[in-house]
Amino acid sequence: MSDSRGTYERFVRPLLFSLDAETAHHLTIRLLGRASHFDPALRVLRSFQRSSKLKTLFGINFPNPVGLAAGLDKNGVALPAWAALGFGFIEIGTVTAKAQPGNAKPRIFRLPEEQALINRLGFNNDGADAIARRLAALRASGRWPAVPVGINIGKSRATPLEQATDDYLYSFRMLWDFADYITLNVSSPNTPGLRELQEPEKLSELLHAIGKEAGTARKPLLVKISPDVSAIELKAILAVCEENGVSGIIATNTTLDHSSIPPQLDQAGGLSGEPLRKKSTALVSEIATQSAIPVIASGGIFDAESAREKFQAGAQLIQLYTGFVYRGPQLLREIVDSL
Ligand SMILES: Cc1cc2nc3c(=O)[nH]c(=O)nc-3n(C[C@H](O)[C@H](O)[C@H](O)COP(=O)(O)O)c2cc1C
Repeated sequence: MSDSRGTYERFVRPLLFSLDAETAHHLTIRLLGRASHFDPALRVLRSFQRSSKLKTLFGINFPNPVGLAAGLDKNGVALPAWAALGFGFIEIGTVTAKAQPGNAKPRIFRLPEEQALINRLGFNNDGADAIARRLAALRASGRWPAVPVGINIGKSRATPLEQATDDYLYSFRMLWDFADYITLNVSSPNTPGLRELQEPEKLSELLHAIGKEAGTARKPLLVKISPDVSAIELKAILAVCEENGVSGIIATNTTLDHSSIPPQLDQAGGLSGEPLRKKSTALVSEIATQSAIPVIASGGIFDAESAREKFQAGAQLIQLYTGFVYRGPQLLREIVDSL
C-alpha cells in the first residue's frame, strides 16, 4: 500500500514534534526566514508548487485561494518562503503598535489525537515599527513575494481598551503601505477585553476611525471574528461591517469552547484545528446566507474535503494554520490540486 503522507509528515514532523511546540515553531520560522534570503533554497521550496488556480476578490488577484493564516509568521520574516511553498496569499501578524513579549511559556500545546492546538501566546510580536522596517527592507531587496500580503493588526496589551482605536490606527498607519489588505483582529481570546471590540458600538467606532484614514479607500479592510459569537451578536457585527463598507470577514479565529477536549489534556487558551471545524464552517455559512460581504474561512482545514466544505459553505478564500502544522506543504498541494 502506498503511503499517502508527504515527506513532511513522515520525516520533518517527527523531528519537529520531538521538540516543544514553541521551539519547533521558532526553528521552522528561522529556517524559512533564512531560506527567504537564499535563492537556491527558494528554488527547492518552489518544487512543491502547483499550477495556478486564479481567483480575484476585492480587486486583488490571488494565484490560488489558499492562504497562510495569521499567527504563523507574526513578524513577517519569511514572506518569500511562504510564496515559494505555493500559498496563494500570506497574512502576517497579529502586529500590535507596541512590541510585546506575550504570555508566560509554555503557551502552545499540541493535542495530536484531537488534531488540535491550544495557544495562549498573547500577541507576542516585534511591534509595528520594527515590522514596518523589516517589510521596507524586504521591498528594497527586490524579494517581495508575487502573492498578495495581508497584514493583521491587533491591540497592544498595555493599551487600555478605551484607547484601542488609537492603538489600531498607529499600526494601520505604519503598515498599510505594505499591505494588499489589512485585517482588524478583534477576536483573539488571549488579549484581555479584545473580543469586546466585536460589540456594535466599539466595532463601529474602530471602523469609523480606520475608514477616515487616507489609505482605507484604496485597500480592502477585513475583520476577523470569533467562532464563539451568538446568532444575535453575528447579526449586529454584520450590520456594522456593512454600514462601514468592510470588504471581507475572516471566519474564524480560535475558540474558547473546549467541550470536546478531555479534561486531562485541556489548557487555557484558544483551541484550533479539527475540533473547531464544524463550528467555524457553520459561521461561514451563516455569514454567506445573511450578507454579501465575502468570507475568508479559517478553522480546521486538514484536507481537500474540509477545504471543500468551507467553499461549499460560501467561502471565497481559505486560510491554513493548524492543518499546516500537522500536514505541511502536502496539505497545500492536495487542496490546490482538488480545486
Ligand atoms: C499558535 C497560534 C497562533 C495564532 N496567532 C494568531 C494571531 O496572531 N492572529 C490571528 O488573527 N489569529 C491567530 N491564530 C488563529 C489562526 O490564524 C486561525 O484563525 C485559527 O487557528 C483557526 O484555523 P486552524 O484551525 O486552521 O488553525 C493563531 C492560531 C494558532 C494555533
